[in-house]
Amino acid sequence: MTQLRKIPVSQLRIGMYFSGFNGAWIASPFWRASFMIRTENEIRQAQQTDHAYCWIDVHKGLAPDSDSAAPSQDASAAPPAPPVPPVPSVSAAALDPAGALDLDLSDALHLYEMARQTTQEVFSQARLGRSLDVRKCKELVEQIAASVAHNADALLSIIRIKRADEYTYLHSIAVCTMMVALGRTLGLDDKACQQAGLAGFLHDVGKAFIPLELLNKPDRLTDQEYRIIQRHPALGHAYLQGLAGVPDYVLEVCLHHHEKMDGTGYPMRQQGQQISLYARMAAVCDVYDAVTSHRVYKAAWDPADSLSRMASWQGHFDRTIFLAFVKTLGIYPLGSIVTLRSGRTALVICQNRKDLTRPVVKAFSNTASMEALENEIVDLAADGQTDAIAERSGEDWIKSQGLRC
Ligand SMILES: [Fe+2]
Ligand SMILES: [Fe+2]
Repeated sequence: MTQLRKIPVSQLRIGMYFSGFNGAWIASPFWRASFMIRTENEIRQAQQTDHAYCWIDVHKGLAPDSDSAAPSQDASAAPPAPPVPPVPSVSAAALDPAGALDLDLSDALHLYEMARQTTQEVFSQARLGRSLDVRKCKELVEQIAASVAHNADALLSIIRIKRADEYTYLHSIAVCTMMVALGRTLGLDDKACQQAGLAGFLHDVGKAFIPLELLNKPDRLTDQEYRIIQRHPALGHAYLQGLAGVPDYVLEVCLHHHEKMDGTGYPMRQQGQQISLYARMAAVCDVYDAVTSHRVYKAAWDPADSLSRMASWQGHFDRTIFLAFVKTLGIYPLGSIVTLRSGRTALVICQNRKDLTRPVVKAFSNTASMEALENEIVDLAADGQTDAIAERSGEDWIKSQGLRC
């Protein structure tokens, strides 16, 4: 049940259920359209907008203190933006994983758009040699961490959407999101997860100082060009070191995210435990996002194939962290293409955290009959379900589509 009241934003307080501004949602600083106000920071963010009034749901949260608030459902007032369905509870997600994900995707998409803008600003400022707004980055990471805590699959599926020419920006958001999710699997507390996320967000800021034509070169790099790109950790580190308020762990990850456990990485050839925890985490998230993304010079690898290949790279990653990463994304990560025992080819769209071998998939073709299916959703963990994953088929499927890996 919903009972909306319009109030001046100056009257917002903790415990009220915010349900949108009295105006365009797009101008909102929040990634969710409606939520319970729990912090002074959320109130401050609302009050710093140009909106004079907002809507609250007095059925779900506190009512205004006095009648000075605008009357309920004032007929002359513009209606609030169409409400986004309420965020489902954890139990709802467990009962209907595919449906719950759809609802959360809407919120995650809004957050992703905000993150994209912030990331573009960060890289533009860096490119001009100007200071970046560390507080703004921290606030964004806070919101990403909240989204991951609520439903990691929603944001993890959206960060897969990247245009090749936007890779450098969107890669930062992807690595940030995966660092937070991986931190949670490793048992890090909220503060540490946010630190890992911030370090992931800024790990490649040094690429702002590398010519774009080199970053987006479609052909193979020459040795000299590769050496120029390899300067980005040191360039990023030098840039961040010159700014006020950049934490040490951010500097550390920026400089060392390309180190390898066997000491063959760069720039310092650190090895094993010499490499900080966050830098070892970043190494895994960074490579996974790079190989599973479409780039101007290569097609994306299938997610499950990527994990399989990365597992075979001796000496590159911290084994414990890599295994936690697999647990975070699932044996068949979102976006993997699999063949079911029934002969259907399907896309993994949602994890089943209780059994990573039985995700929710969208079947789109029958390999045996060569027949296209109408995106049938199949929950492989549902009671009575007899179908199951027979094999990963991403690599074969990608080749059959004429794409190069
Ligand atoms: Fe990098
Ligand atoms: Fe990177």
